[in-house]
Amino acid sequence: MLLEMQDLCVRFASRAGDVQAVRGLSLSMAEGELLGLAGESGSGKTTAAMAIPRLLPRNATVAGGRILFDGEDLLAKGEPEMEALRWKAISVVFQGAMNALNPVQRVGSQIAEAILHHEAATGRDEARRRVEELFELVGIPAARSASYPHEFSGGMRQRAMIAMALACKPRLVIADEPITALDVMIQAQILNLIKRLCSELGLSMILISHDLSVIAETCDRVAIMYAGRLVETGGAREVFESPAHPYTAALLGAFPNVNKERVFVAGIPGNPPSLIEPPRGCGFYERCARRSPGCDEAEPASVDLGGGHVAACPLARGGSR
Ligand SMILES: Nc1ncnc2c1ncn2[C@@H]1O[C@H](COP(=O)(O)OP(=O)(O)O)[C@@H](O)[C@H]1O
Ligand SMILES: [Mg+2]
Repeated sequence: MLLEMQDLCVRFASRAGDVQAVRGLSLSMAEGELLGLAGESGSGKTTAAMAIPRLLPRNATVAGGRILFDGEDLLAKGEPEMEALRWKAISVVFQGAMNALNPVQRVGSQIAEAILHHEAATGRDEARRRVEELFELVGIPAARSASYPHEFSGGMRQRAMIAMALACKPRLVIADEPITALDVMIQAQILNLIKRLCSELGLSMILISHDLSVIAETCDRVAIMYAGRLVETGGAREVFESPAHPYTAALLGAFPNVNKERVFVAGIPGNPPSLIEPPRGCGFYERCARRSPGCDEAEPASVDLGGGHVAACPLARGGSR
């Protein structure tokens, strides 16, 4: 396994009390895999993912668990060791990053600087040549590396951010909502780019999106989070076709298939529970149409459906859609 998260717990200090954003998450991914992380806003996706390169905000505490990368626990490493891994082994396309490019610096030179910063041995000419290669790789003509961010469309800026994440040839890329701010036609192009890069470069990627249907169509495997916990994981197609957890089924109902016409539908009724005093039992209990007495008393056991398909719901065995 390239990455193994074991019982990860992360909390944030807040005025109202500690927010238990990630509550015992265990998840693994193989080298070369494209893993989708889905769930409504606030379910803990960004927090879980940013714990990997240890880029959590200051008020966050990793309260427990291990994150093994190539068998080594990242949570046990010192900051200099982590700094050496960032960009070169694990890189991130941050949520909203395409709007964070420096407006007064040419896009290509921003990427060249990132390369020079992280690889001391690289010279300027070499960095510039690498930038041109990276541009071609993500489908931007090399000559456009001299453009300024405002001369790029949203899709091109996102391609440039992906190029930057690939600049130091990482093994794992974490892309946090990389298509959310783009229009639908461009979303499909960026997803195709991500797929192509993963297969051509043998890259491993965690693709985060609140839209499960997007992930199901793009990724090899999906993991669905709710209220800081993993509720279901499995092969993308299988989870998409036979969701086993009522939350997954509801999420799929809330976001129509990307190939179908996208109509706005009401989301799942109700709101996620407070993570300051998280529920004892199933986090989805209050909103679940198929709950039964007892679901709110203890955390539901994981049901193994075979082939890596696991869901934390007693109904899982029967399928829920
Ligand atoms: N810096 C922070 N301080 C306090 N609470 C936070 C902070 N960042 C995130 N949270 C809380 O942690 C939970 C998970 O958030 P997040 O990981 O951003 O979810 P997602 O990426 O799935 O939308 C939410 O309840 C959110 O309000
Ligand atoms: Mg997020």
